[in-house]
Amino acid sequence: MQKKTIRCGFVGSGFAAAFHYRALQHVVSAKVEVAGVYSADKAGMESFAKERGIPTFDSLDALIDAADVLHVCTPPVTHAPIAIQILNKGKNAIVEKPFTGYFGDGSEDFCGDTFDREVGLKAALQSCAQVLEAEKHSAGKIFYAENWVYAPPVQKEREIIEKTGAQILWINGEQSHSGSHSLAYGQWKLSGGGSLIGKGCHPLTAALYLKGVEGRTRLGRAIRPVAVSARTHAMTRMDGFVDKGYLKTTYKDTEDFALIHVVFEDGTVADLIANELSLGGTNNWIRVNANNHRTLCNMSHNNTMQTFTPEASIYDDVYVVEKIETKAGWSEIAPDEGWYLGYQHELEAFYKAVAEDAFVESNSQLASDTIATIYAGYLSAQRGGAEVAITNL
Ligand SMILES: NC(=O)c1ccc[n+]([C@@H]2O[C@H](COP(=O)([O-])OP(=O)(O)OC[C@H]3O[C@@H](n4cnc5c(N)ncnc54)[C@H](O)[C@@H]3O)[C@@H](O)[C@H]2O)c1
Repeated sequence: MQKKTIRCGFVGSGFAAAFHYRALQHVVSAKVEVAGVYSADKAGMESFAKERGIPTFDSLDALIDAADVLHVCTPPVTHAPIAIQILNKGKNAIVEKPFTGYFGDGSEDFCGDTFDREVGLKAALQSCAQVLEAEKHSAGKIFYAENWVYAPPVQKEREIIEKTGAQILWINGEQSHSGSHSLAYGQWKLSGGGSLIGKGCHPLTAALYLKGVEGRTRLGRAIRPVAVSARTHAMTRMDGFVDKGYLKTTYKDTEDFALIHVVFEDGTVADLIANELSLGGTNNWIRVNANNHRTLCNMSHNNTMQTFTPEASIYDDVYVVEKIETKAGWSEIAPDEGWYLGYQHELEAFYKAVAEDAFVESNSQLASDTIATIYAGYLSAQRGGAEVAITNL
């Protein structure tokens, strides 16, 4: 059978656009043609395009017109407006995490530390609803680029749950490292929050996804989250923080530590941690404690490959693992980090869905559940960890 040709465009030309482009090379279910890139950073766009031999576009509209699928690889504040612009033209949007959020009231002196989280929750839900509404009236779809859903360990766990009819009782998980490279990350008006949204979204979406899988297998419908308790802290901004220079300290008004306890409608729970305080490379893991098995999905670190070198400089040209502070000594080196993290698998799933007009697991509903849970979490944190009910859209 001849493969369908699908044209794609990149919105943004930074870190995420680069790994999307790399992962795209592994898509096999469609013939993907890259129409080009549009980015707010003209110089960055030019070098991104030159390196890959692809055209640049002067406007987002022109790029949308030239493509069937747009990769939204821009800061979180732009996700909803760009996705709506794409959907309004009947095109598909692959939207990076976080789906959307609350980015302040637009005032010069808006501060992420002090605004009322109830306002934030309402606005974040409204933003989700606006994207869902645009999708309802569009020929295009939202594909939520939560790579953890497609990471091979999480997909193997999906198989275990489906084949054994497991009941998940408790999930725990973590994403953490020593801090983000992106300057947009630490400013609430661009990022919509700190560790809870920026990192916590990964294990949270995976937990929501796996409870969805369990529900659809055993009960014929997803088991949704209903309540959340959370704490957030800004340790690197404490007066007493002693900076030894290893952790990033670029956060203006966001938290660098978050802990979230999610209660599902069947009374089972998930406990997830996200932070910017962990040296030694990125931690990406989720553990499932079920009534018939227990699984650890270890995207990173894992011990697939371990290497030792006495001098860091020996590995100057060798990629070791994301956000490792030194290459000297023993390392849990990643032979194919993107594979473990599910980047190529998510794009394969999305392009297959476009080619075959099929259901996709990481969709706008899962994305909205994640945002609803996170912002209920921020409200809980404002209330010192008191439980807050989740509004499911
Ligand atoms: N799934 C993952 O593992 C993962 C990892 C890193 C980042 N991300 C997500 O990817 C997104 C981008 O992050 P990043 O690290 O690539 O940031 P980045 O700062 O490296 O790149 C952002 C790009 O967007 C461009 N941009 C900004 N506003 C724009 C606009 N209105 N229109 C067009 N282009 C615009 C910038 O010029 C830049 O090229 C974020 O939402 C982030 O959370 C996901």
